[in-house]
Amino acid sequence: MNTLEQLVYCSRSRLAREDEAAAMADIVHVAAYLNARNGISGALTLQDGMFVQVLEGSPSALDILMLHLHFDERHEDIEVLCRDTIERRDFPAWGMAAPSRLQSEALGRLIAARSPDLCAWRAAMTELLVEAA
Ligand SMILES: Cc1cc2nc3c(=O)[nH]c(=O)nc-3n(C[C@H](O)[C@H](O)[C@H](O)COP(=O)(O)O)c2cc1C
Repeated sequence: MNTLEQLVYCSRSRLAREDEAAAMADIVHVAAYLNARNGISGALTLQDGMFVQVLEGSPSALDILMLHLHFDERHEDIEVLCRDTIERRDFPAWGMAAPSRLQSEALGRLIAARSPDLCAWRAAMTELLVEAA
């Protein structure tokens, strides 16, 4: 069976503010390529020094990516906040979407609360993408 899962994590950026834009561009560039190969899609944002990433793909592909992420020195304190089986992807068209220049109050509240509510994260990230379009 082709199980599909979605997970949301947040992590603390270790980037200097002035390096954030270039680093985000680099991450999205690499992720778009690797994620397409690994059947992963999702969305990534950086708000108030915190990365939030929604990832969707097979359970094993997500596990492997999370291992890589743990060794990436551009961020630290990775907290997986929710992970669940999904019927279909929310971000099918994206190797990795990054509405990074937008700030969202809803997202800020979810980050502060470390919310375990997958639906709320999905909605907040989708909203950001719609606003960025
Ligand atoms: C916040 C953040 C999000 C990332 N998202 C992805 C991603 O979605 N897919 C991916 O392949 N790499 C992503 N990366 C990069 C990986 O950590 C890693 O550099 C990449 O998978 C290449 O693996 P390697 O450095 O072990 O060769 C991300 C890095 C950071 C800091």
